[in-house]
Amino acid sequence: MKVLGGSASSRTARELAAHLGADLVPVERKTFPDGEVYIRVDAELRGEDVVVVQTTQPNASLLELLFLQEAAHDQGAASITAVVPYYSYSRQDRVFQHGEIVSAKAIAELIELKADRFVTVDPHKEHILGFFGIESHGVSAVPLLAKHLATRKVDTVLAPDKGALDRAEFAAKCLGADFDYMEKTRLSGTDVVMKAKRLDVRGKTVAVVDDIISTGGTIAMAAAELKRQGATRVLAVCTHGLFLNNALDRLKGAGVDEVIATDTLENPAASVGCAEAIADVLR
Ligand code: R5P
Repeated sequence: MKVLGGSASSRTARELAAHLGADLVPVERKTFPDGEVYIRVDAELRGEDVVVVQTTQPNASLLELLFLQEAAHDQGAASITAVVPYYSYSRQDRVFQHGEIVSAKAIAELIELKADRFVTVDPHKEHILGFFGIESHGVSAVPLLAKHLATRKVDTVLAPDKGALDRAEFAAKCLGADFDYMEKTRLSGTDVVMKAKRLDVRGKTVAVVDDIISTGGTIAMAAAELKRQGATRVLAVCTHGLFLNNALDRLKGAGVDEVIATDTLENPAASVGCAEAIADVLR
């Protein structure tokens, strides 16, 4: 087995190769002044089971993934597995308004052209895996995050909204903690309060768990409210930390005591590795 690591997931690729006892193949990559992506894989891939590892955010990383798959295909790989730790465009998983496209499905159709198998971590919605006409798997990062949280003495796990409750419940069960979701109530045109639906957070260590932190707006609002309501510590926990527009500063400013993310996106808060869990699915 050979592992090709894209530039957005070089750490995961390296760790995955080590867990699988596979060769990590060096990839030459550059970006031309006009933004075009160039890759070269100077290795013998004929007859090999090739695993391409690349998160698809930002957009150039998606192209790099497709090009790496193309290289494996052109060189006669026996099989190609696309491992996409963070699958971008996953929030456009259905048509919300007439005329939109299902972007998550469009990307799946591109990936499956040159792949036999697809693996991702915590897809935004489970049905995304069904967009692939090839074997597809979702690895849950929740037990990994829960293991990391186990030393933090978390009393309560909260979902920032009802839609994210399943993930929070799963994390809470792994930790033996309470769980709930936060509900927004509009008091006026300008005032909104956000509160745990059932539980009192006073004096508690609370972990707010979401799949993605993008700008941090959702969890920052939740954290500020939780602190106002007397929570002692608030941890912001996610699988995919995009942390756009100074999100980490924004979270800190809102009273978040610690930010914990997995390494599906490489960033300073990525303290939970997913490679071993991905390797378990590939074996
Ligand atoms: C939404 O569907 C996701 O699960 C996250 O709740 C969202 O991406 C968070 O965005 P932000 O960090 O910008 O509030």
